[in-house]
Amino acid sequence: MNMYDSNIISNIMKDAGFDRTYDSSSAEIIIFYTCNVREKAAQRVFSNIGLLRSENTKVVAVGGCVPQAEKDEIFRYKHINIAFGPHAYHMLPTYVSRILSGETDRILDVTPLQPQKFNCCGSERTASHSEFVTIQEGCDNYCTYCIVPYTRGKEYSRPVADVISEVKMLLARGAQEITLLGQNVNSYNGEAPYINIGKPKGTWNFGRLLHEVASLDGLRRLRYTTSHPKDITADLMKQHAQIEAMVPFVHIPVQSGSDKILKLMNRRHTAQEYIDKLKAFRDICPDIQFSSDFIVGFPTETEDDFEGTLNLVREVRYICAYSFKYSPRNGTPAATMDGQVPDDIKIRRLSVLQNELMKSQRAHNEAIVGKTMEVLFDKVGRKGGQYVGKNVYMQSVVVASNETDLIGKFKMVLIEQAFQNSVFGSLI
Ligand code: 5AD
Ligand code: SF4
Repeated sequence: MNMYDSNIISNIMKDAGFDRTYDSSSAEIIIFYTCNVREKAAQRVFSNIGLLRSENTKVVAVGGCVPQAEKDEIFRYKHINIAFGPHAYHMLPTYVSRILSGETDRILDVTPLQPQKFNCCGSERTASHSEFVTIQEGCDNYCTYCIVPYTRGKEYSRPVADVISEVKMLLARGAQEITLLGQNVNSYNGEAPYINIGKPKGTWNFGRLLHEVASLDGLRRLRYTTSHPKDITADLMKQHAQIEAMVPFVHIPVQSGSDKILKLMNRRHTAQEYIDKLKAFRDICPDIQFSSDFIVGFPTETEDDFEGTLNLVREVRYICAYSFKYSPRNGTPAATMDGQVPDDIKIRRLSVLQNELMKSQRAHNEAIVGKTMEVLFDKVGRKGGQYVGKNVYMQSVVVASNETDLIGKFKMVLIEQAFQNSVFGSLI
């Protein structure tokens, strides 16, 4: 979502007459867009301000969830001129002009979500072959470790008509793969596009939106992220089976395999309920695969609790996963819970877990050797003549080819060799 927001910010600034440079020493305005989910990400911005400022810098703007959480405390870093939350990026050109004109040297905007921000995506928005579209933002789940409900705010779904017109615009500009974005995409509940005479407009749920998006001309692949397990319904599983463009790969974060920890995290399901849901998904869509997020070292996590996580990983056989040490966030309930786990234990558990996850990723990479799969190429490889693309499972597939340019093209590839993070194959 931060990549999506950053791209929009860049387009809005271009519309306002600014040029983009990748050379920080010549930049007059430096804009940082930040994540506050873990402390490490939040800290990185402050060291980067020091690294990137130069004698040419006239404005430093820090946007995203770090200023949204810190409010005017962020100005303890004295070089910041503009601090804007994730819901204020459409105001940036105005704020930059006010700083450049000397009217003021500090602006803070941490307003709650304003739907109009979505309608300022910038006329210059170009489309690559694979694009994101935010359909929903914010979260009402209040997992006890998570800062997101306090920074991105309450759940809000964009109206169906707005989502469809953005997807159509991207498809018309060359996109072929669309990823629908949100903190909880499958709790989507957006204003319906039609008025049935005599009836209120009503709302559409995620399944209905998926059908509509999938029916648009030019769309070859449809993805979405991210989902809470509670919103993975039997209906959604059926949509996967019915809609051809939907990739058989879903990110369903579980965080922990211990019922005690899941309860303390306020995840509202047990490990077995989660596993059963994934089993049901596999029954309906036999080729479906999953990825997940994990947190190790949540307060009071014992070796037994951690063993529960490892057992769940062995049972589910994820093809990819993101795992983190628990990071206490100010203002969240878990930050003040008893039983905080020492860092050395977190480090050890993270490494054990990542080892297990890597085994399962490697096994999946090996399991597709000998298969022929469709790949959407997105970049050149490290060696001359190599191209790298993604199959439906987001695995990186590398081929050697004499064709002049494969980027943005779908090709059938025979997978021949598996490595830890990629597979190699030949064009058919
Ligand atoms: N500490 C560590 N990881 C966290 N995440 C969210 N909050 C925290 C935290 N306080 C992780 C979760 C979530 C992902 C986006 O970030 O695993 O799914
Ligand atoms: Fe955070 Fe996701 Fe939980 Fe919402 S569902 S509180 S975004 S971890």
